[in-house]
Amino acid sequence: MAFGRSLAPMLRPACVVLLDGDLGSGKTILAKGIVAGLGAATEDEVTSPSFTLVHEYGRLDAATGRSAKVYHADLYRIDGRREVESLGLDELFDSGSTVLIEWGAKLPEPLPCSFVRIRLEVEGESERRIIVEKH
Ligand SMILES: Nc1ncnc2c1ncn2[C@@H]1O[C@H](COP(=O)(O)OP(=O)(O)OP(=O)(O)O)[C@@H](O)[C@H]1O
Ligand SMILES: [Mg+2]
Repeated sequence: MAFGRSLAPMLRPACVVLLDGDLGSGKTILAKGIVAGLGAATEDEVTSPSFTLVHEYGRLDAATGRSAKVYHADLYRIDGRREVESLGLDELFDSGSTVLIEWGAKLPEPLPCSFVRIRLEVEGESERRIIVEKH
């Protein structure tokens, strides 16, 4: 969660962030930190979108007067290009908002925009290796 908060300022301007790693590796916890770090919601307000598929967070930015939206999607239950397309993620990619996607490796390549991929590797019960790649 702390790492997500520290990473958030580097993710501006709005971009697509793919979160990959095994079940329970910490994708949702990392997303909580990123969303909080972007100022779109508090960690407690960010919950797993594994059933609802896409959550939207955002509040008015007092400094700019604009709303900084963050979308948080989970593709765990999604199979195949057609189901991915039914989520309308392309519209979100064009929206100028930050889009976080758990199980992002399921997105059909190539992506229509630049993105950051974060991989969480489980090294032990309470240890993770976090790999951040800018594409
Ligand atoms: N404050 C905390 N301290 C330590 N571990 C925690 C804390 N909060 C949650 N966890 C644990 O961290 C793990 C990561 O959970 P998280 O839901 O982020 O994983 P995930 O990668 O999103 O999983 P999924 O693939 O099911 O969406 C879980 O096992 C959870 O029990
Ligand atoms: Mg999750």
